Amino acid sequence: AAITSRGEHTTLTISIVMSIIAGLCAHSCLPKLRDTFLKANLSGRDLLKRDKPLLPETMGLPVAIIYLITLFLFIPFPFINWFEGANLVHEDDPTVGTFPYNKLGEILSAILAIQSMILLGFADDVLDVRWRYKVWFPAIAGIPLMIFYYTNKGVTYVMMPVQLRPYVGDLVDLGPLYYVYMAMLIIFCTHSINILAGINGIEAGQSVVIGVSVICNDLLYIFNNPDRASVEAHLFSLYFIIPFVGVTCALLWHNWFPARLFVGDTFCYFAGMTLAVVGILGHFSKTLLLFFLPQIFNFVYSCPQLFRLVECPRHRMPRLNDQGLLQCSTVRPNDKKPMGKLGNIALKLLRALGLLKVFEPTESIPLQQEQSHPSPMLDVVKQEEPQISSSSPTASTPSAAAVNTFTPTKKELEFTHQEDT
Ligand code: UD1
Ligand code: MG
Repeated sequence: AAITSRGEHTTLTISIVMSIIAGLCAHSCLPKLRDTFLKANLSGRDLLKRDKPLLPETMGLPVAIIYLITLFLFIPFPFINWFEGANLVHEDDPTVGTFPYNKLGEILSAILAIQSMILLGFADDVLDVRWRYKVWFPAIAGIPLMIFYYTNKGVTYVMMPVQLRPYVGDLVDLGPLYYVYMAMLIIFCTHSINILAGINGIEAGQSVVIGVSVICNDLLYIFNNPDRASVEAHLFSLYFIIPFVGVTCALLWHNWFPARLFVGDTFCYFAGMTLAVVGILGHFSKTLLLFFLPQIFNFVYSCPQLFRLVECPRHRMPRLNDQGLLQCSTVRPNDKKPMGKLGNIALKLLRALGLLKVFEPTESIPLQQEQSHPSPMLDVVKQEEPQISSSSPTASTPSAAAVNTFTPTKKELEFTHQEDT
């Protein structure tokens, strides 16, 4: 095996044991914190249940705190070799006993980035920050990481995929663009987890799947790679990702259908940042993006709505129908803001690809759309009647009932009315 030092074996074992303890802690803490969070008004309605129960939200916060404590306690262990005698300074070679400050700096900058993201995520949960501001949160939280990256080697080249090497060479130096790339990666990882949401368990579930994929990738590298630097980078990644998977499993347990709590934006940001950090400092950001393929697909698919080419409701999630089944989400064009050319092109393209269904104004909308048409993921309803979100709560609800049987509560209507760009 390429893990040469006994110290590294011990450190990895300690990391695994600490992660299991952290997971068990989170598992037992979460139900106890339910009432505290409900009392603090950190709660949300499960919109996809008949009785729309009120569940504690932002439960990613205790999980993130347990994760941070685990990492704080873990900090000394990667330096176990140094404590065990490497600190004996040799008189003829003063470098031998030097403490690996760069390694400590790497760990601290990663923790600082994750911690800042948790703080900003919590702010979003409490204050419901508008998208136009919160989009930049992750890049700001990632600054400590990028500064560490710059001052420590700061390689800015990327290894090209084998298929492209004959044309552009093995390595391509991106220069300052590499920092733009890292910032964009961090923004993508955090928000992509947050927007693939709305169904019980999906935020925590996708994080566990990506986390476990990262662990497998790290282990494959460590056991098949003779290159020392690469082994160290992947060990670093393991030290961060194993406790993450530990605490996230506990959260998923309680968030699994029927959910007893919501993870909140705090968790989505925390998860995205942790994954981005290990991808960047472990030097496998392109492999990480492979693990994010479903999220990339969802992002591309959501672009017309995210960039407001097509009407975007406050909640882009399925609706519960009469039979208690989930039905594709539908959207009506806003009369006040008619859809532009680009929006029309996007709809035509997605329709041609069979990814959504467009109803013409003359067409009556079948009640159980999903039974006869199981594949589309989003139904766009083009109709002349005003949209639910732009009508008053009492007026013209019959047209809404034709789309789906979901009748929005007062709170949800307020939600839809919010300007959220
Ligand atoms: C993102 C999505 C939004 C989606 C929401 C759901 C975009 C641009 N935004 O917004 O469309 O509706 O996540 O998380 O894609 N909820 C449930 N069941 C669940 C999870 C959440 O009903 O399993 C509801 C609850 O009312 C909860 C709310 O969603 O209170 C959480 O919304 P929040 O995380 O604040 O939404 P965003 O992240 O802003
Ligand atoms: Mg969210």
